[in-house]
Amino acid sequence: MRLFKACLLSPTPMYKLTATDWIWHDGDFVPWNQANIHVLSHSVQYGSSVFEGVRCYKTPEGPAIFRLRDHLARLLGSCKIYRMEVPYTIDDLVSACCALVEKNGLESCYLRPMVLRGYGAASMVPFASPVEVFLPCWPWGAYLGEGALENGVDACVSSWQRVAPNTIPTMAKMAGNYLSGMLIKMQALADGYAEAIALGPDGMISEGSGQNVFLVRGETLFTPPVDGTLLPGITRDTVLTLARDAGFEVREQELPRESLYLADEVFFSGTAAEITPVRSVDKITVGKGKIGPVTTELQRRFLATVHGETPDLHGWLTPTRSLVEAAPR
Ligand SMILES: Cc1ncc(COP(=O)(O)O)c(C=O)c1O
Repeated sequence: MRLFKACLLSPTPMYKLTATDWIWHDGDFVPWNQANIHVLSHSVQYGSSVFEGVRCYKTPEGPAIFRLRDHLARLLGSCKIYRMEVPYTIDDLVSACCALVEKNGLESCYLRPMVLRGYGAASMVPFASPVEVFLPCWPWGAYLGEGALENGVDACVSSWQRVAPNTIPTMAKMAGNYLSGMLIKMQALADGYAEAIALGPDGMISEGSGQNVFLVRGETLFTPPVDGTLLPGITRDTVLTLARDAGFEVREQELPRESLYLADEVFFSGTAAEITPVRSVDKITVGKGKIGPVTTELQRRFLATVHGETPDLHGWLTPTRSLVEAAPR
C-alpha cells in the first residue's frame, strides 16, 4: 500500500504538466488557462477524443518538429476511423504547430494535438457535438526518468492484456485506448517497475503502455507486427528505417513472452520514451543488464537525427522558425 501511494499519489516530475503561455484552438491562440471545454462535452462523457504526441527538438537551425506530417496524418486517420470531420488540412496544422512553438518561445517541447467532440450531443450519438481542435505544447524531458536513455529501465510483463483486434481499433490513437495503457502502467509503477510490456489476447508480445517494443538477437531486430493489438508507432517506423540504414536485419513477427528473457537486447520506442533500453524483464536480466551495442547504435543515429546533427536524409524534421518566418502576414 505504501509503495502504491508513493507511486500513484506523488507523481514524479516527468509525469506532471508544465504550463506554457498559449494553446492553439481552432485558428486562435488562447491563454493556457482559457483552453477549456464544457463538462458535458461528448469527449468527457464518452471519451471521443483523438490525439497525437509529437516532439520538437532543439537543433542548430532552431526548434524542429520530428515527423510532424506523419503524426498529423495519423491524427487525421484516427479521425477518419471515428467519423470525425476535421476542417483543416495537414498543411494548416503544420503551420499552426510551428506557430505555436514559436509563440510559446520554446526551443524544445512535446506537442499534443487533440481533436475532440465538444458540447451538444445528449447521447452517445455524437453528431450534434462540434469537432474541435486544440494544439497544446509544453516542455518535457525523459519520459521514463532521468538516466533511462543511458542506463535502461526495469520492466515487467503485465497481467493486463491488450485489446483484441476488431474490438477497439488500435490504429487510432484514441483517448479511450489509454484505459488499457493506464492499467498496465499503474500496475507496473505500483509493483516497482518503470514500465510494463503487455501481451495480446493470443499471449504473444504486443507493446508497452505507451511504447512499442523491440528485441535484438545478434544483429537482427524483432518487433511484433501491426496485428490490431498495438499502435503502429512512428518511432517504431523510424527505428525500422534507421536499422535498415545501418545494415541490421529487421523482422516484424509474432514473438512469445519468453523471447524477452532470451534476447540479447530489448528496448522501447516511442515519441515520449524515444529509444529506451530495457535492462531487465520480470527481474530477469536482459543480455548484460545494460544498453547493448545495437541499441546504442540506433539510439545514437536517432538522437543525431532528431537534433539535426546529421543530414536529414528522410525529410523528418520540420524547422519551426523558417516556416513561421516564410508564412504570409
Ligand atoms: C500505445 C502506444 N504504443 C506505441 C506508441 C509509440 O508511438 P509513437 O512512436 O508514434 O510515439 C505510443 C505513443 O504514442 C503509444 O501510446
